[in-house]
Amino acid sequence: MPHTSSKQRTSQEIKVPIMQVYNLNKSFGSFTVLENVSTEIQTAEVTCILGPSGAGKSTFLRCLNRLETVDSGRILYLGNDTLDEACNVCTLRTEIGMVPQQFNLFPFKTVLHNVMLAPTVVKHMNKDEAKKIAIEELEKLGLADKTNLLPSALSGGQRQRVAIARSLAMKPKLMLFDEPTSALDPELVRDVVDIIRTLKESGMTMVVVTHEMGFAFEVADRIVFMADGRILEEASPEKFFNNPKDERAKAFVAKMF
Ligand SMILES: Nc1ncnc2c1ncn2[C@@H]1O[C@H](COP(=O)(O)OP(=O)(O)O)[C@@H](O)[C@H]1O
Ligand SMILES: [Mg+2]
Repeated sequence: MPHTSSKQRTSQEIKVPIMQVYNLNKSFGSFTVLENVSTEIQTAEVTCILGPSGAGKSTFLRCLNRLETVDSGRILYLGNDTLDEACNVCTLRTEIGMVPQQFNLFPFKTVLHNVMLAPTVVKHMNKDEAKKIAIEELEKLGLADKTNLLPSALSGGQRQRVAIARSLAMKPKLMLFDEPTSALDPELVRDVVDIIRTLKESGMTMVVVTHEMGFAFEVADRIVFMADGRILEEASPEKFFNNPKDERAKAFVAKMF
């Protein structure tokens, strides 16, 4: 693993937060899963969330597009309070796409229909337009010849790509990925990493929960390290991997390499 990165960082540029999170708290019964979580997600950046299992990473991601309720705190999307009653959750989820860990494809719908579904149902797009967009996204992800198959006829890597195409068909402004490589065989990990890198090059803003440290180092603009429901460190990949400050982060990095 390299200890310096040749890529251009955007830190000198003016940052525009797409999401701002303030003092988020969430419990499941008496169990605190998120405690005073505050952070900002910058437009056109890749934020990688790292941390041990049970840290609250998935719960945090789900809070960002209101798949979870929160107990207290504020989450702003483009300056608007997403927890406000006036926030239209459907619109929010149209703009914030999520690729869940288990893909959640409809098993009795073809690949094409899985990808067309949200644009037609949520965005009320006509079928021809939705089909055109779905085929475009599936082609980009190398699935042009799979459109009429059911998800069960696909490999895990292909199902993952359908799930990504389904999110992209909504033309989101922010993509959330929850451990996008965790369900894949090692030889398929590279494919997904390449897709995320290509999306980054196209300017997509992404938050990626991952255990792929090489990927996080290479692609992330910012690392957010979580443990026990708290953000313990936020830093550039160089700083985080070469010189973590927090003791838990130090132990985590040491264990990973
Ligand atoms: N719906 C739920 N009900 C009760 N406990 C939950 C629920 N979802 C998550 N948890 C607990 O919250 C903690 C954090 O979970 P999660 O956000 O999935 O962590 P991570 O993604 O970092 O592994 C875990 O201890 C998990 O068991
Ligand atoms: Mg998780």
